[in-house]
Amino acid sequence: MGSSSWEEFFAVHLPPTDFEDNRTLLKEFCDRHDQYGNKIALVTSGGTTVPLEHNTVRFVDNFSAGTRGSASAEYFLEQGYAVIFMHRQKSLEPFTRHFSGQKLFDMLDIQERGPNTTITVKPDSVDVLAPVLSRYKAAHAAGAVLHVAFTSVSEYFWLLRAACECLARLGPRALLYLAAAVSDFYIPKDRVPTHKMQSGSGAPVIQLQLVPKMLAPLVSLWVPAAYVVSFKLETDDSLLVPKARAALDKYKHKMVVANLLQTRHHRVILVSPETTQEIVLTREEVHAVYQKYDDSFILFDLESASSKGEF
Ligand code: PMT
Repeated sequence: MGSSSWEEFFAVHLPPTDFEDNRTLLKEFCDRHDQYGNKIALVTSGGTTVPLEHNTVRFVDNFSAGTRGSASAEYFLEQGYAVIFMHRQKSLEPFTRHFSGQKLFDMLDIQERGPNTTITVKPDSVDVLAPVLSRYKAAHAAGAVLHVAFTSVSEYFWLLRAACECLARLGPRALLYLAAAVSDFYIPKDRVPTHKMQSGSGAPVIQLQLVPKMLAPLVSLWVPAAYVVSFKLETDDSLLVPKARAALDKYKHKMVVANLLQTRHHRVILVSPETTQEIVLTREEVHAVYQKYDDSFILFDLESASSKGEF
């Protein structure tokens, strides 16, 4: 099925209920950092959903846990960027990602003494928790990070455009790092039932439509002076570089980070208009780098592009 235009998409899909609050937060954040001449990185992270009902019980989703985006956000902060972390609700977030699941509770001891109960960090966990906690506290005390969350693909696009509107005035001091796994297909609004689909009506036949590629207006209209890095995810290696290069040719942005689903944690290919650079980490390197940055290793090369004045 064909795709609607991006203008049509915004005309048909209403903004999310918390949109104005988020827009205000984005504007305040960008204005404040712009005033000080700071660089801002917009990091998108996690997957988008496609609701099957307006009162959503069921939805189409994808695999992304937000590992790359949340790890990369930490690295951008460390490199002096203010970071807008635009993430899927309940996906991994910078700093807290290190202690997901039961990890945090396993690091704590409790001494139950009625009203004088105390909770302490186990001595052998202090070295693990302290550096991450310090970086978290420093980033938040400096007002260097703003979190905004989305769930559905339409919420993602509304937030993305609002963030771009605020970032545009920073010109080349804005960097967009679009690591979120954005749905390519959706169900047009007028074909989504209001209430939970009933099994008694039989198995539904669901016709998906193409989502317009937002990279097109983003690069050419919304933030034309920003350094835009998009991602390309494939499962077939032979398609990876050709598709990344085709995206660069089409959208004319600065870089595509190409990765395969199966090997994304230790191999990426950085594709720019002039170069193609594969980065493969050995098991030891993965261990060494991941201890600190997890899979944000590709930023070492974004940094080198930066030092050459590319952004
Ligand atoms: O979260 P993890 O588990 O760590 O996984 C990280 C990752 C594999 C999700 C990440 O490294 C990654 O590859 N993200 C991009 C996945 C993706 O959406 O690829 P794509 O080839 O479908 O899209 C290419 C680009 O087009 C993306 O940068 C996307 O922002 C953009 N896009 C996509 C759809 C759409 N309608 N409009 C867009 O602009």
